[in-house]
Amino acid sequence: MAVRIDGKRISKEIKEELKEEVKQFKEKGKHICLAVIQVGEDPASTVYVNNKKKACAYIGIESQSYELSESTTEEELVDLVKSLNNSSNVNGILVQLPLPKHINEDRIIRTISPEKDVDGFHPTSVGRLWIGEKGFLSCTPAGIIQLLKRSDISIEGKECVIVGRSNIVGKPMAALLLRENGTVTVAHSRTKNLKEITKRADILIVAIGKRQFITSEYVKDGAVVIDVGMHRDEEGHLCGDVDFADVEPKVSAITPVPGGVGPMTIAMLMNNCVETVRR
Ligand code: GUN
Repeated sequence: MAVRIDGKRISKEIKEELKEEVKQFKEKGKHICLAVIQVGEDPASTVYVNNKKKACAYIGIESQSYELSESTTEEELVDLVKSLNNSSNVNGILVQLPLPKHINEDRIIRTISPEKDVDGFHPTSVGRLWIGEKGFLSCTPAGIIQLLKRSDISIEGKECVIVGRSNIVGKPMAALLLRENGTVTVAHSRTKNLKEITKRADILIVAIGKRQFITSEYVKDGAVVIDVGMHRDEEGHLCGDVDFADVEPKVSAITPVPGGVGPMTIAMLMNNCVETVRR
């Protein structure tokens, strides 16, 4: 029987630890504040933003909410981010993505001060990650490392295969697994013989955005499978990039969707917010 890696439990554990740490910072007069910016009213973004604000409240972090209209200009958003960069009351800045099409996302990300970049998306944060310097880690990959560590799954010397090469998950995931001394392969949509490569994996991380794409034919007996996908099946139930029912009997450990990687992303965002005052 495969172990189901319980992201809900592990994220709760991390949030409890952070809550205690924040309490101790408060006793020393150190306050933490996260600015959360949403442009427009995309319903999925609203759910994510609300969950982030709720997590802040739970842990004892102040959240400042900026709900801007869809018609906000790039210049207006740049000005807001710059003013938050300069505000000594604000520790972290989060601009919820995606932004409306008329705003250059890349420019906004680069405007956030790397010292307040709690998403870890700024090129400075990305560079620090790859050279092993201290900096903010991208939340989803950092959450996956915590899932593995807190499930006593060692990474050192393991064949780690990542399917997907996005800037938010695949690429930073490769850097983090490398840092943990894994042997890392990044496969993607142009990869030939994908099955041959994924079958080598001791640890398989799937972030391709295709519903239930990875079946048992793609995995080695006893592998550890981490599913970053989030979709709805024909019946409207949440499911991942991995065909869970088909893959689970073959593997040693697997993350469910929901309740696997998802809850970890917010826990690691909270960790990055606390990191702003640890420094
Ligand atoms: N949109 C989807 N995921 C994320 C995330 O992790 N951070 C931000 N800022 N926007 C997102």
